This record gives sequence, structure tokens and C-alpha cells, in this order.
Amino acid sequence: AQSIDTLVIVGVTGDLSSRLLLPALGQLLTREKKRKLRLIGVGTEDWDDAKLAQTLKASFETSSAKGAAVTDLIKHATYVRADVTDRDDVQRLVDGLTGTPAFYFALPPAITAQCCALFEQTGLPDGTVLALEKPFGTDEKSARALNEQLARLVPEERVFRVDHFLGKSTVLNLLGLRFANRVFEPLWNREHIEKIDIVYDEQLGLEGRARYYDTAGAMVDMIQSHLLQVLAVVTMEAPATLDHEDVRAATATALRATHVFGGDPVASSRRARYTAGKIGRRTLPAYKDESGVDPAHHTETLAELTVEVQNWRWSGVPLTMRSGKALAAKRSEIVITFRPVPEVPTGFGGDRPANVLRLSMGPDRMELNVNINGPGDPLVLDQAVFTAEFGEGELLAYGEVLSGLLDADPMLSIRGDAAEECWRIVDAVRAAWKDDAVPLQSYPAGSKGPATWTPLG
Ligand code: BG6
Repeated sequence: AQSIDTLVIVGVTGDLSSRLLLPALGQLLTREKKRKLRLIGVGTEDWDDAKLAQTLKASFETSSAKGAAVTDLIKHATYVRADVTDRDDVQRLVDGLTGTPAFYFALPPAITAQCCALFEQTGLPDGTVLALEKPFGTDEKSARALNEQLARLVPEERVFRVDHFLGKSTVLNLLGLRFANRVFEPLWNREHIEKIDIVYDEQLGLEGRARYYDTAGAMVDMIQSHLLQVLAVVTMEAPATLDHEDVRAATATALRATHVFGGDPVASSRRARYTAGKIGRRTLPAYKDESGVDPAHHTETLAELTVEVQNWRWSGVPLTMRSGKALAAKRSEIVITFRPVPEVPTGFGGDRPANVLRLSMGPDRMELNVNINGPGDPLVLDQAVFTAEFGEGELLAYGEVLSGLLDADPMLSIRGDAAEECWRIVDAVRAAWKDDAVPLQSYPAGSKGPATWTPLG
């Protein structure tokens, strides 16, 4: 694929750019010293090239970026002051481009969509790549409309629906763990697996993101996007090759077979919102009292959803995703619980808990508990835990995503139909929530969630 020589970050003055994108870009350029890349920063602020260079330097420092490609990028970076919802500004921006550009929209989706509508009028250089942050649309219908709009601009392979969870090393390592070992894949099905939980609990609260988060909530912010992607990698069939065509076909097929468990969005989902509380030394106000929050939105800060992948491999196996903010501890793991063994010879003493495989996303490690004869009586079962570090990736998750983007390899980008499937899965749940069919429960910030919820994993 024709690779990218000009990266246009639209919204370069914002927080996403300086906190996540630029540090990752610095890391990537430190590794790839020969990469020739020009950066154009676009924003509405009154910045100039010098101010952009200063921001780049500060962000690159946070990831210890150095080397020729980094210095070169800073030296030649240019700032374009433009309002991307204004036709003349967009025309000027497009006219100023040379080479093969990638537009990275580090902007709220509504503005991105407006800019793309203007691209239909201005046209785009050959080979342009468009990279969009989540949320991709606001429901299945709007995601489809956005896909149709993008399809009028560039081919599907040149649309990057960014999901940095696909760049997390534990998620990427699932490919190796599942498909390069004899001991897991034969057991990776309904015969042997009782349930799978994907948990992403955070201690972080709103972090000043009320404007976005209050319209999204935990279901859209985490489950609709990130955790369903992880679920797809955990449940997909083996792709024929690691090319993007095969990998994305496999994940999209898994998502197409994914439905709310038992077809019942009420029984298979839960939601809650935090009240005031303490996390370590930090005191958080109740979510509804945070600045920028509209209490009438009933936004959940903790969500759980159980789904089923309806195929021969997974039929009947509950797959539960959970994510929340302001919780007691950070916990980010995929927990695979195997079925109990059918029998053990009479005479064994001790417990024999089910085997559980835990794949943790930061620190990146795996754990498998096994029942063995312990140090004492050999006929009394004991438990041991096999552990291994997954090995942190060389790049941050955003670095993996950017690396794919600049090589125009969409393997880590969500394919258009898969993005629609993810909305289809959660739209039914959100409709039930809107009708108040599922109560919005509460939990004190710094707790493990509502006391009545059974823990996962
Ligand atoms: C983002 C969500 O996409 O992912 C945040 O908007 C969340 O709310 C974050 O905190 C979690 O990802 P990571 O990689 O920062 O732990």
C-alpha cells in the first residue's frame, strides 16, 4: 500500500494530541530513524510554527523520543490555523498539501463529520488516509451514514477507525497465544470454557472530560468500542494470514455472530453511577455534581453487558464485558474460566478449583492456575500458578496504531461493517436503559461497585 509522507493532525492543540498521539509518534520515529514524515498541525488557536515545535518537543520528551527522524519532523512541522467546518479553510488546507497525506482527526466526531462533508466538495489527494477517533457515530444508523460518507471520499482500506485497544500488546499477543500453541486452541470453545469476562475497571474519574463523557457513558466509551474489539479477538476463528483482509474478516465475522445474551437486554446488562467518595487520598464529588455534567442525562459510569457469540464454537457461553470509573482499584484483564473437570479419582483430598486463565492488559502478563500435588500429602490437591510476562510492546498502543496508519496497513483499524455491528449489539441495550427498564444503581467512588453486584472473574 502507498505509505504516508504527510501527517495532518487536525486538533493538534488539544489534549488527545499532546497527551497520547504525539508521545506515541515520537516513540515510533525513535525506532524508525529513516522514516520521512512531514507534520502539519491544524487548529483554531492562534498558534504558529514555533509554538507547534515547542508543543512537539514537550510531548516527545514525555516518551524520551530522540534521533534524526524526530529532529527532522520538529524542524519542518508547520501549523495551519483553520476551522475545518469552514469551506474556504478546508479548501486552503487541501490545496496546500503535497504527497500522500493522512488526516488524523483528534476532534469531537461531529466536527470530523462536518469536515468530511466539506472534503466531498474540495476533493482529496490520491491515496489520502482518513483516521477517526471513537465514537464512530452515535448509533448503528449514524455509523452507517458516516461509513457511506467516507466511502465517497476514499476506499475502505484507507479509512482508519482508530481503536487503541487493538494496539495493546496483550490484545496483539492473543494472536500468538491462541494460534501458535497446541495447549490452548483445542480447549478454546464451549466444550471446555464456562465463561469469559473482560474487565476494565479504572480509578480515574472524569478528568475534565464531562462534555464528551456525559453524552457517552461507560457503555459507549468502553464497551461499544474497546471491549467489543477485544472480545472479537478473543472469540474469532483463526485467520488464514495476518494480513488485514484476513484478520479483519475474522473479527467482523465474530462480531456479526455476537448478540445480547438470551436476546434479553434487561437481564444481561447492569449500570451504575458513582456517588461522592475517596480513592486513596483523592476525594471525588458525586458524578452528578461534577462540573459540566447534566444530571438529567442519567449517564452511567459503570456498565456491564453479557453477550453470546452465536456459533458452534461459543453457543451458550456467557461473555461479559465490564468497565467503570472511580473504582477502588485498576483492573484490566481478560479472564477465561474453564469448565470443571468431569471427575477425579476417588481418594483425592483438597480443593480442585476450575482452571482460570488471566490475561492482564497492563501490567501485561498471564496467569494460569493448575491443580497439582502439593508439597505435603501427594493425594491432597494443591494449587500452583503458572505466570508469564507478555512483554510490553516496544511501542505504546497509540504507537502501534500510528505505525499501521503511516504504512497504510489497516489491520488495527476497525472495518466499517464491524463498527456498525458494535452499535447493533449495544443499541438494544441502550434503548432498554432509556426506558428505565434497567435501574441506574449507585456506588461510592473508591468502592468496588454496587455491593449487590457479583464480582466477575
Ligand atoms: C479511552 C476512554 O478511549 O480509553 C477513556 O475514552 C479510558 O475513558 C481510556 O480511560 C482507557 O484506555 P487506557 O489505554 O488509557 O487505559
